Amino acid sequence: MTTFDEIDFFTDQSLTADPYPYFEHLRAKCPVTREPHHGVMAVTGYDEAVEVYRDPDTYSSVNSPMGPFPGLMFEPEGDDISAQIEQHRDAFPLSEHMITFDPPRHTAHRHLLKRLLTPKRLKENEEFMWRLADRQLDTFLERGECEFIGAYAQPFALLVIADLLGVPEEDHELFRMLLKTESQVPGSLDKEQAMAVSDPLQFLVEKFTSYVEDRRAGPRDDVLTGMATAPFPDGSIPEVIDVVRVATFLFAAGQETTARLLASSLLILGEDPALQQRLRAERERIPNFVEEVLRYESPVKSDFRLARRSTSLGGVDVPAGTTVMIVPGAVNRDPRRFACPAEFQVDRANVREHIAFGRGVHTCAGAPLARAEARVSLERILDRMSEIGISEKVHGPQGARTYNYEPTFILRGLNELHLEYTPAG
Ligand code: HEM
Repeated sequence: MTTFDEIDFFTDQSLTADPYPYFEHLRAKCPVTREPHHGVMAVTGYDEAVEVYRDPDTYSSVNSPMGPFPGLMFEPEGDDISAQIEQHRDAFPLSEHMITFDPPRHTAHRHLLKRLLTPKRLKENEEFMWRLADRQLDTFLERGECEFIGAYAQPFALLVIADLLGVPEEDHELFRMLLKTESQVPGSLDKEQAMAVSDPLQFLVEKFTSYVEDRRAGPRDDVLTGMATAPFPDGSIPEVIDVVRVATFLFAAGQETTARLLASSLLILGEDPALQQRLRAERERIPNFVEEVLRYESPVKSDFRLARRSTSLGGVDVPAGTTVMIVPGAVNRDPRRFACPAEFQVDRANVREHIAFGRGVHTCAGAPLARAEARVSLERILDRMSEIGISEKVHGPQGARTYNYEPTFILRGLNELHLEYTPAG
């Protein structure tokens, strides 16, 4: 029998269906422990993970989306490799996106995003979500069954971001088609495929370049103009490509993650009719339900940092040049922080302490959006579908279900969820 130590987390498909026993194995060794295949320091402890997230001086984000791949392109020298990181920064995958930047460059680019995510814009965007939820449900509701991710979760998450960015509605269908055919989930367990995703959003760059250039040449009273003309905090005007990268990255960061959150929510409700009834009757519990889903099935399964200086974490030595892997799916089940962590508890009092959205300077910029998307969707789904159940035809009978999860080490998410329900309106 294969032991957990023999399993390579980054390539082995056997962990995709249920990674949690493996995470417990790591934690049982130590909340900070080196996995044996790639020398990655896995952090499964809550306090230790927050310490890493909060210390960008010690832990660089240069490798955050890809972890140990493609490997360091230099031999770490000494106890501080900051200069080596800067020298090789452009060679890291996705180095053009803010998720890999460190302060102070990160601070300036994050500021551009802050200009976009104003309370006014978020409010308008939520109004769009209510309309969109019904429009999307109308496309399949009367059938009484659906594959929920393709029919609802993905198009919904995509079009919410398009609206947030002010993409004109006449272009929405084009975006939907393009992203449906072109989008790729990062962190594939197939190593070659993982490396091929150097910039999954290249195809959006052209479209946003033309929007930004157009709005700079002829400003209008719209969201794209606000984004195209926003300065950096020091007053300088960003290059067009800097603005384009902010916009395109939102699709990468906000689409698959939110779609998986919605799918996990529906799976949990489909498996638990009593909870479904309770949420239908007590709508004020929906926000807490969403937080518990984020804790229990954290859509981002692993997130990375590179130790720039030799340091110590949870009493374990971390030499400069070590790839550190924060494992939100494990951290959010740390029994030192969450009582009975393997139980789904809709009333969990401290649930908002979860780190599904990260922490610190890179904390998820889209968290308010993702939360609103889940809340609005659940409200409308509970209104318009009654007796939501899991399709036995596809997933098997209760107690013996099979669910397929995305074969990636980065995301935790179903790749299909077949539901049956009674249309209610
Ligand atoms: C359930 C849904 C989501 C989850 C679980 C999630 C999770 C995360 C996590 C863990 C990070 C931190 C990465 C790091 O520190 O290395 C992050 C960053 C980010 N997220 Fe989200 N996210 C979600 C939805 C969204 C949405 C809807 C958007 C926007 C439309 C978004 C935009 C971003 C951006 C721009 C960053 C990078 C921030 C930075 O580098 O400063 N996310 N997200």
